[in-house]
Amino acid sequence: SGKIETLSHALDFTDQQKNLLTTFFAYDADTQKRFEGFSENVISSYPFPYSVAPNFLINNQLVHVPMVIEESSVVAAASYAANFWAKNGGFQCRILGTAKIGQIFFRLSEDKLLLKSHFEEIKNRLLEAVIPVSGNMQKRGGGVFDITLKDFSEDLFDVYQLEVVFGTADSMGANYINSCLEIMAAELTRFFNEDNCFEKGDFEVIMAILSNYTPDCVVECSVETPVENLAAVDPQGNGEYFARKFVTAVQIARNDVYRATTHNKGIYNGMSAVLLATANDFRAVEAAGHAYASRDKGYRSLSKAKIENGRFKMSLKVPVAVGTVGGLTRLHPMAALSFDIMQNPDAERLMMIVAAAGLANNFAAVRSLITTGIQAGHMKMHLQNILQFENATENESQQVIAHFADKTVSYNEVKLFLANIRK
Ligand code: MEV
Repeated sequence: SGKIETLSHALDFTDQQKNLLTTFFAYDADTQKRFEGFSENVISSYPFPYSVAPNFLINNQLVHVPMVIEESSVVAAASYAANFWAKNGGFQCRILGTAKIGQIFFRLSEDKLLLKSHFEEIKNRLLEAVIPVSGNMQKRGGGVFDITLKDFSEDLFDVYQLEVVFGTADSMGANYINSCLEIMAAELTRFFNEDNCFEKGDFEVIMAILSNYTPDCVVECSVETPVENLAAVDPQGNGEYFARKFVTAVQIARNDVYRATTHNKGIYNGMSAVLLATANDFRAVEAAGHAYASRDKGYRSLSKAKIENGRFKMSLKVPVAVGTVGGLTRLHPMAALSFDIMQNPDAERLMMIVAAAGLANNFAAVRSLITTGIQAGHMKMHLQNILQFENATENESQQVIAHFADKTVSYNEVKLFLANIRK
């Protein structure tokens, strides 16, 4: 296209570089057009590995979980944990809430009692103003559920907030929420510009936007099994020892921010991979989760683990604001396929699947950390990547893999070894 030509010309691209851009573009003209509509200045697409972690047993129902992630070991870890937990009762998930919050911040230089005494009237006008855009959402069980006034004026001069509670059914709802908020903000401005007891000019809207903090759109996912059953995942076959060390490792992540951040990152390895595979906004879900992890006494691990009456129990409580309709969920052909693979879950079921993937990755990561360390698994994939990069033949690869089975893999060492056998 013109953009590729312009860029290639400006950067003096080789034919090979130019071809790369066209080769990686979407596989047919229609899809390509659709991709160009997702974002701006699109000149190609950037494929990531698309994998499936099979057989997650969630609330007694099996589901194969599509994951899009570039990092090695994540899908292996998810699959390993899913397999173990499927044999031990599976993941039990429940939705603790699905409400989302929107915010309208405004400045009003008036007596706050006057504002408070008119709040019900204002609220009713705002609720009425969004009826035209809410019809469909209401039919699906969503809509605007409540509006409350929050007073920020002690800390921020003359600043107030309207906190609006939304239900967005099976959509993530960002567009719906933001549209409603902007309509409400306009109606609010209209109200303060009318002839009433408020002075004209004393009011301005500062901004209207959804909040990505969704502490009332939360799913809880848990697993449990008698400690002896953990022998199956302990290299030494000692379930009780494993359980105790595991619980200590999680407690460390509940007490130390450096460890908590890594621990939670491991949870999002699983969660974000499912979010990406379903074209959901992983930045939004991650931002909410990190804020949620800080909701009391500083930043902590999102998961918990304990031993109770001889049973190992692990759980993850996490905000997950996602959609199964709307946005790119059905427009991106691979996202649509992901929904087919998962047998078309609704938003609540998807919340559960995302959380289960997070818990699975967390379980597998902590298991590796307290047993073999994570490098053993990582290095196998790292070695594969190096072999591919060096164009190793099947025969060369086998020799390299055998040689490094009990040695530390580094790029240089592998290169040297390859050079040697190629001589
Ligand atoms: C690597 O992507 C994730 C881990 O570091 C998570 C953790 O340490 O728990 C293995």
